[in-house]
Amino acid sequence: MNDPTVRFDAAINHLGVIMDGNGRWAKQKGLPRSAGHQAGVQALKRLVSVAGEYNIRIITAFAFSTENWQRPSSEVSFLMRLLAETITKEIDELEEKGVHLRFIGRLQELPEDLLRSLDRAVARTAANDKLVLNVALNYGGRAEIVDAVRKIADLVQEGQVSIDNIDEELVARQMMTGGLPDPDLIIRTGGEHRLSNFLLWQAAYSELWVTPTYWPDFDRRELVRALLAYQLRKRRFGRIHEI
Ligand code: FPP
Repeated sequence: MNDPTVRFDAAINHLGVIMDGNGRWAKQKGLPRSAGHQAGVQALKRLVSVAGEYNIRIITAFAFSTENWQRPSSEVSFLMRLLAETITKEIDELEEKGVHLRFIGRLQELPEDLLRSLDRAVARTAANDKLVLNVALNYGGRAEIVDAVRKIADLVQEGQVSIDNIDEELVARQMMTGGLPDPDLIIRTGGEHRLSNFLLWQAAYSELWVTPTYWPDFDRRELVRALLAYQLRKRRFGRIHEI
């Protein structure tokens, strides 16, 4: 069902989501943190299901950060299992919905069986063009920039690029999101007003929307609220005119 109050001309091409608050949601209900993460998967499914109705073409979802390894090992292994299981379980539906699954992050550091199932899912959905679901896994914005700097240093060393030719476009191409436009809007649930190492390069001009709602409770109403707020923002990209 389309929401008549959301104008379709204020299109959000790329939406970033920092899915925070799973643990607090669970605690509030007297449940283990794992139940919060499971409910978080359902919230992401809901978002993927309705995104097309609001002209959203790309979603980048922060699922596991380079810092999350510091959580208790039982929670880390639960999250890895949940990811692997979710991909296996949801792949048919993602395929049906025309979702192209992608992953960003230091994927080579992930458990090998998980990596294999990610690769299979990416290959299977590569031709889909309704929505890109870009999952950030073992992702950190600073790590991404470090890796990009290394790649550029390699290119210079190999004589493929001269230092004078290093510009924003070249740097952007080395980012893990290379080829995707920067996010127009980043939604953070759970109430904290920070980026927490999410898409640091790409978020330079993204609009930010923070809601105290915990991620498992994020639903269409919350999305519409964020989209309505986004429409009122004047994106100037450092210029003085409204564009
Ligand atoms: C933050 O909540 C959430 C995470 C670290 C994990 C997010 C992962 C999912 C929602 C699963 C995604 C699944 C797929 C298939 C992409 P928190 O644990 O930091 O919550 P808290 O701040 O309340 O403790």
